[in-house]
Amino acid sequence: MGDLILYIFFSLVAILSFMLLKKPQQRANLPPGSMGWPYIGETLRLYSQNPDVFFSTRQRRYGEIVKTHILGCPCVMLASPEAAWFVLVTQAHLFKPTYPPSKEQLIGRWALFFHQGSYHLQMRKLVQGSLSLDVIRNLVPDIGAIAAACLESWSGGHVISTFHELKKFTFDVAILTIFGNLDTWNKEQLKENYFILDKGYNSFPTSLPGTLFSKSASARRRLSKILSSIIKERKEERSVQKGLLGCLLNSRDENGQILTDDQIADNIIGVLFAAQDTTASMLTWILKYIHDDPKLLAATRCEQKAIYKSNGGGNQPLTWAQTKNMAVTQKVIMESLRMASIISFTYREAVDDVYYKGYLIPKGWKVLPMFRNIHHNPDFFSDPYKFDPSRFEAGPLKPNTFMPFGTGVHSCPGNEVAKLEMLIFIHYAVTKFRWEVVGSKTNGVQYQPFPVPEKGLPAKFWKEC
Ligand code: HEM
Repeated sequence: MGDLILYIFFSLVAILSFMLLKKPQQRANLPPGSMGWPYIGETLRLYSQNPDVFFSTRQRRYGEIVKTHILGCPCVMLASPEAAWFVLVTQAHLFKPTYPPSKEQLIGRWALFFHQGSYHLQMRKLVQGSLSLDVIRNLVPDIGAIAAACLESWSGGHVISTFHELKKFTFDVAILTIFGNLDTWNKEQLKENYFILDKGYNSFPTSLPGTLFSKSASARRRLSKILSSIIKERKEERSVQKGLLGCLLNSRDENGQILTDDQIADNIIGVLFAAQDTTASMLTWILKYIHDDPKLLAATRCEQKAIYKSNGGGNQPLTWAQTKNMAVTQKVIMESLRMASIISFTYREAVDDVYYKGYLIPKGWKVLPMFRNIHHNPDFFSDPYKFDPSRFEAGPLKPNTFMPFGTGVHSCPGNEVAKLEMLIFIHYAVTKFRWEVVGSKTNGVQYQPFPVPEKGLPAKFWKEC
């Protein structure tokens, strides 16, 4: 009996001293939160309610660092500006980008956003170079012509799905930034197959014939062939190549190696993918927000009409300098980016055990910086659900509280061209057209996967006399 008491006593001493001698980091607990049901975790809860509510109820209950379990993965949601900065900037090397294998299959494994390190840096410089201010300033007349033609095709009072139609506009602008001029045949081939790929992108990944996913995968193979033939033609041409494709074709790494056709094709599809739905979804929200606020629409129209008049009633095209001088419209765009927060959060994976604010984020866990929760936090944006562009007049924002284009090494290299596209589209929409939202009293949201007004915002457009 005495031996047993001694044994228990020494065991307790050993456990206690082990706990006390452990570094504070090693004693760290997992963040608070619920892992839900075994295996399915909280996936059903997330998909059966508005994701805003899912995240904000957990944030209210547990604080700014919350653990959960979604789609078979343990995750930590981080909803503070400091935490986003930690994951995406200061400790970015501890968190790698992570995507399901099916997405890599459809986009192509060489696309820059699947990578980190030197390959990512090399590709990012090329993409950034092709979208720099010096390059995109020359695109204003062409983007203007695409916007005007697009709006013209909507007019006449028939009902259109605004989001669906805007996807054609943003596709055409993306093609312009990638290829410069591209012949109609290749453009139509790319469009037809890209739209099939896009349709199956979020479907259940299966190789069963006839499914959306397998159609999408076949379209991706056809896109590779089309891109290979364009690459071959461009290599044979002697003229200076423009756009992203030109930058990719001219690239040499430190050993003088050129990029393979697969690397070029995957990055072209990657940029198309990153550019199209995001910008189309944002423009759909902007058209809804200004439609729903007649005073704001009048102020935006007044600003744009003054520019339109100075261009001889649209006889001369819009200029780059004019796009830099649209204060009201700029603020409408900023507030729309905040309010809609179409990239609600991003995903990374911890490459090692990471300690943050006394909590352990185990290696292999997913980490989600929650942009939307930060953008809708009343501590940073008063009355956050009110659409109020004037909030951007009130001096500088708190650091890292406004990140519609992300931050750090993977932040959006297309942010300037996206803003330019939106400014130009709004210019033509409000100066030459009027529109009416059909069933305007509905405030529903659909996730495609970006939040988009219900049914893509059905609307009727008329050309102004
Ligand atoms: C309003 C429209 C857009 C929004 C809101 C948006 C937002 C974002 C965000 C938040 C990220 C960072 C994602 C992360 O950290 O995981 C990102 C990355 C990216 N965006 Fe955009 N984007 C838009 C338009 C565009 C356009 C027009 C292009 C190209 C022409 C583009 C190209 C990219 C690329 C290539 C990346 C990956 C960068 C990397 O991994 O280094 N985006 N975007």
